[in-house]
Amino acid sequence: MVPVVLPMQQPVDQPSANPGYSHACYWDNRYSSKPTTFDWFFTYGAIGGVLCSCLPKDLPCLHVGCGNSTLQDGMSKDGFLSVTNVDISPVVIDQLRLHPTHGNAYDVVDCRDMQDKYSDGSFGGVLDKGTLDAVLCCKGGHADVVKYCKEVSRILAPRGIFLLISLGTPKARAKFLDAGMASWSIEVLLLPKPSGFYQTEAMITGRQPSRDPESRAGVDRKDAPVRMHGPFSMAEASGLIGEDPDVTAKFDPNDYFFAYVCRKQGSAKEKQPEQQQACQPEQA
Ligand SMILES: C[S@@+](CC[C@H](N)C(=O)[O-])C[C@H]1O[C@@H](n2cnc3c(N)ncnc32)[C@H](O)[C@@H]1O
Repeated sequence: MVPVVLPMQQPVDQPSANPGYSHACYWDNRYSSKPTTFDWFFTYGAIGGVLCSCLPKDLPCLHVGCGNSTLQDGMSKDGFLSVTNVDISPVVIDQLRLHPTHGNAYDVVDCRDMQDKYSDGSFGGVLDKGTLDAVLCCKGGHADVVKYCKEVSRILAPRGIFLLISLGTPKARAKFLDAGMASWSIEVLLLPKPSGFYQTEAMITGRQPSRDPESRAGVDRKDAPVRMHGPFSMAEASGLIGEDPDVTAKFDPNDYFFAYVCRKQGSAKEKQPEQQQACQPEQA
C-alpha cells in the first residue's frame, strides 16, 4: 500500500474549513470508503526521526486521532514499547484491530473528554498529527481545542511531552497551547512540506513553493526524512516566519508544517508512569 500525503482543504485556522472534521460519522464514512493506509502531512518515513528524538520510547504514549496513518507501524518497528492509538471513528479503530502490531493498542476515544478512559499522569508522551487542526475546523472548534489541550495536560505525567504536528503557525497555535496547558516549555521545529503536498496544492490554488529550495530538496520523495529547522522558541519561530513586525522573516510559513514539542513542567520526584519492558524472546 502506498501512503499518500494530502493537504487540508483550506487553512484550518478558519473554523469553517470543514465542519465535519470532528464528527465521528464524517470520518467513519471516509474510512469505510478508503480502508487503506493514508497519511496527512508526512509519512513515518519522513518524520520517524523527529518522533524518536522527541518522545520517550520506554513510557506509555498516546497517539491521538491516529486514523490509518503509517505512524503506528513505524513506531512499533522503531521500538516504542507501548503506544495507545485512539480515534473518534469506531470504523478505523476496528480496521486497525484486525491487524494489530507489536506494542500497539487501539481504542475509540474523543480527545475532548478522556476522563473515563485515562487517569491523570498516565502517559509519558502524547502525539498528534493533524488531529488538533481537524478539531479546530468545526463549529465550536476553539473551545473544543482548549478542552483537548487541557485533557492532554491532565493525562501527561510531569515532564511528559506533547508532540503536536500541525499546519498552524506559532501565533495561531500558542493561544490554544497556552490556554489549555499551565506551565509548559514549548519548542518549535519547522518541517518543510513534502513535494507531494505542493503538487496537490498547486493543482488547487495554483501556488508554487516560494523559498527554501535547499530544505525541499530533501523531501522530494514522500518517505525521505525531513530536513527540519530548529528547535526554536515560540518567539524565535514567530519572528523567522514573519509574525513579528520587528524581525526580518527568513522563511515563508506557507512552505512549512510545524512541530510543537511541549514539555510539561514537573519535578523528578513526582510520580511517573510505569516504564515499559521490552519483550524478551521466548526461551526454547
Ligand atoms: C486530519 S486526520 C489525521 C489522521 C492521522 N493522524 C494522520 O496524520 O494521517 C484527523 C483524525 O482525527 C480524528 N478525530 C477527529 N476528531 C476527533 C476527536 N474529537 N477525538 C479523537 N479523534 C478525532 C479523525 O477521525 C481523523 O482520524
